[in-house]
Amino acid sequence: MSTIHNYVEKNSTRFLDELKELLRIPSISANPEHRADMVRSAEWLAAHLQELGLKSVNLIELGDKSAPPLVFAETENAGPNAVLIYGHYDVQPVDPLDQWQSDPFDPTLRGDNLYARGASDMKGQIIATLKAVEFVMGQGRQVPLKFLLEGEEEVGSDHLPQFIDDHREMLACAFCLNPDAGMLGPDLPTVTYALRGLAFCEIRLSGPRQDLHSGIFGGAVHNPAQVLCDLLAGMHDSEGRVALPGFYDSVRPLDAAERQELGRLPNDESFYLQHTGVPALWGETGYTPNEQIGGRPTLEINGMQAGFTGEGPKTIIPSEARAKISMRLVPDQDPGEVEQQLRRYLQKRTPATVKWSLEKFDGGPASICDRDAPGVQALSRAMETVWGTRPLFKREGGSIPIVGSLQKYIGAQSILTGFGLPDDNAHSPNEKLHLPTWKKGIETLIHFFNNLGGVAPAG
Ligand code: BES
Ligand code: MN
Repeated sequence: MSTIHNYVEKNSTRFLDELKELLRIPSISANPEHRADMVRSAEWLAAHLQELGLKSVNLIELGDKSAPPLVFAETENAGPNAVLIYGHYDVQPVDPLDQWQSDPFDPTLRGDNLYARGASDMKGQIIATLKAVEFVMGQGRQVPLKFLLEGEEEVGSDHLPQFIDDHREMLACAFCLNPDAGMLGPDLPTVTYALRGLAFCEIRLSGPRQDLHSGIFGGAVHNPAQVLCDLLAGMHDSEGRVALPGFYDSVRPLDAAERQELGRLPNDESFYLQHTGVPALWGETGYTPNEQIGGRPTLEINGMQAGFTGEGPKTIIPSEARAKISMRLVPDQDPGEVEQQLRRYLQKRTPATVKWSLEKFDGGPASICDRDAPGVQALSRAMETVWGTRPLFKREGGSIPIVGSLQKYIGAQSILTGFGLPDDNAHSPNEKLHLPTWKKGIETLIHFFNNLGGVAPAG
């Protein structure tokens, strides 16, 4: 214990400097202008893996040349028993920029926290994992490892399902270690055993050929913004349930035992009130917040666009209205089926006064893993060693598209962990990483690799 603790303490300034270097690269995958930064991040990571002593390190271009490259690396002894370490080096956009207290790409220390886009989600987690590997390899331990670092997670990992399907042997592993999840609090180490899936898309309505004077035409022309509001408003009922016909048909119900366990987690309603600042919570009747977020599917409006939104008045009927929508899915919903349900809803409910179209983005199915798997046990024991307390087991409401694909194409389970906190402002202004927790995370991962023993035997 103390050797490991001392190693992390002694080297933490260097670890932090390395993290800052990676955070300075603005690898925003949603924005094609950052293509060169995606490549720079991938190259930075590839060079870093080489420094760690990995012999085989490759940058892999995906079929679509505009997609950010994958970094794939493996130890010499890596075979189908290897642990596959996953990470994503892309980050979310930074707007609204004026709400940041410091430049999102100039990592800044305030108190115990390092502020930068990607600090928590998930460059901090990648560095934590690489530093744990550094220790383990430095000790001469021959843990067989493969690394797969992608740059398009935050936009849905469009190219990964095909890539995984095409490279089953290369990616074959005992299981995947995925440190892209988080903890419930600095003293609440957490193992995530389920993720929600995702189906997301943009609805586009078009009415008049161009914006019209709302006095000259208002009354005889149906306003696309109004139609959009009607359509969106019809997507939930008064019980907070999603009203798309068939939406709940294949939802796997939460069983009584699991509901009881989730009920014992410390994050109750007051936790969510405190972490969000909303005046009151909302959700599907009959479920607690943890159940609503982790175990029930939802539909969210992520953004709407229509008409004039600049300063001052402008009296028009807009020619178009758009909404970005995402649906978080649970086992055993199928993203394709859900998309069809939405299409049928639009088909049936959109009046003949406007035209509609649906642009689909990629997503993926939900995933749930076996809590007794040996990898989970190794992680759980590592957390207990570092924090002195057993980890909590939670279902996560967020999504990581690759998890479902690894399960589907190579039958690999993902062990989901990570050392981000609920108040890290992931995807929000002032994203940060809590450094004391991060350092404990590095220690945890070292213990995790040490605990693997027979799980991922050398060779
Ligand atoms: N790291 C998150 C997912 C997550 C959040 C896991 C919180 C555990 C706790 C990941 O980077 C993410 O944000 N995923 C996106 C996926 C989407 C854009 C396809 C998400 O969930 O919105
Ligand atoms: Mn994210």
